[in-house]
Amino acid sequence: MQVAVTPFERLGGQAGVRALVDRFYDLMDTLPQAATIRALHPRDLATSRDKLFKFLCGWLGGPQLYMQEYGHPRLRARHISFPIGAAERDAWMLCMERALEDCALDTLMRAHLLQSLRNTADFMRNRNEPEDSR
Ligand code: HEM
Repeated sequence: MQVAVTPFERLGGQAGVRALVDRFYDLMDTLPQAATIRALHPRDLATSRDKLFKFLCGWLGGPQLYMQEYGHPRLRARHISFPIGAAERDAWMLCMERALEDCALDTLMRAHLLQSLRNTADFMRNRNEPEDSR
């Protein structure tokens, strides 16, 4: 019998997701390419870390910690006050791709996860840019 393993379990449960989110925000805090999106966040990243951790636990197939505390994520609506175009999307993904490099994931799950994250990040765009700037 084949047992389906969720990305949440594969990443090492809550401790693994916490480590991923911490790496992600540490990178956002230091990579020059992420300076623009870092500036959109509060100076103290503690709440941002906690919210992304809780959201990702549920999104990756683990406990719905974010929903329990804050209700439906309505992610696009919650991002609408931040100017997000292709450059911001790509900077967010750069931090996430680098953060995921430290995770022991098999090639297929990594590719699947990155594609889902890319789709979600792209969905967050709320600025139209000319095609040739992408
Ligand atoms: C595309 C580029 C993105 C940018 C520039 C961006 C930026 C931000 C900013 C500035 C905040 C507010 C931080 C705070 O209040 O502490 C935020 C919150 C959040 N972001 Fe993003 N984000 C992006 C993509 C994503 C993606 C792809 C996800 C999920 C996979 C995500 C998940 C969240 C969550 C869960 C919150 C907390 C929402 C709340 O309860 O207020 N973001 N984001």
